[in-house]
Amino acid sequence: MERTYIMIKPDGVQRGLIGEIVKRFEQKGYKLVAMKLWSPPREFMEKHYADLSSKGFFAGLINYMVSGPVVSMVWEGANAVLEGRKMLGATKPSDSAMGTIRGDFCVEVGRNICHGSDSVESANAEIELWFPEGISEWESCESTWIYE
Ligand code: PPS
Repeated sequence: MERTYIMIKPDGVQRGLIGEIVKRFEQKGYKLVAMKLWSPPREFMEKHYADLSSKGFFAGLINYMVSGPVVSMVWEGANAVLEGRKMLGATKPSDSAMGTIRGDFCVEVGRNICHGSDSVESANAEIELWFPEGISEWESCESTWIYE
C-alpha cells in the first residue's frame, strides 16, 4: 500500500472545502492515516518548498501558504500518489479537468486549493517532514469491499 501527503492550502480552508476534499478521498476508497490543521511557521513552509526557492513566484507562494491554517493529511491505498494527483487535477487550474478538485473549485495557480506529493520518494519525505510524530496504523473493516 502506498501513502501520499495531501495538503489543503489556506484558500481551501478559508473557502470551506475541507469536507469536500476529505469526502472525495474517502469515497475513492483511500484510508486517512494522519490529519492535522495548523499554521506552520514561514521557515517550515520554506523547507517544504525548498526545491522552488529559485523560482520568481517563491516569495508569493510562501506568503500565500502562511496566510492561514492548512490541513495536512496522509492518505493510504493502491497507487495513492498518482491517483491522488489525478484527483487534485493539473497544477494550473486552467489545465485541470472538470471533476478534479482544482478543475471544479479554483481559477488561478497561485490559489490552487491543494497540494499532493508528486512521487513516492517525495511522499515519503513530505510525510516525514509534516508528521515527525508518525501516522496512525488502523485496520479498515471496509478493505475487503475495496480490494479483491
Ligand atoms: S515549476 O515551475 O514547474 O517547478 O512549478 P510547478 O511544478 O508547476 O509547481 C510547483 C509548485 O509551485 C506552485 N506554483 C505557484 N504558486 C504560486 N504562483 C505561481 N505562479 C505558481 N506556479 C507554480 C504550484 O502550485 C506547485 O505547488 P504545489 O503545492 O505542489 O501545488
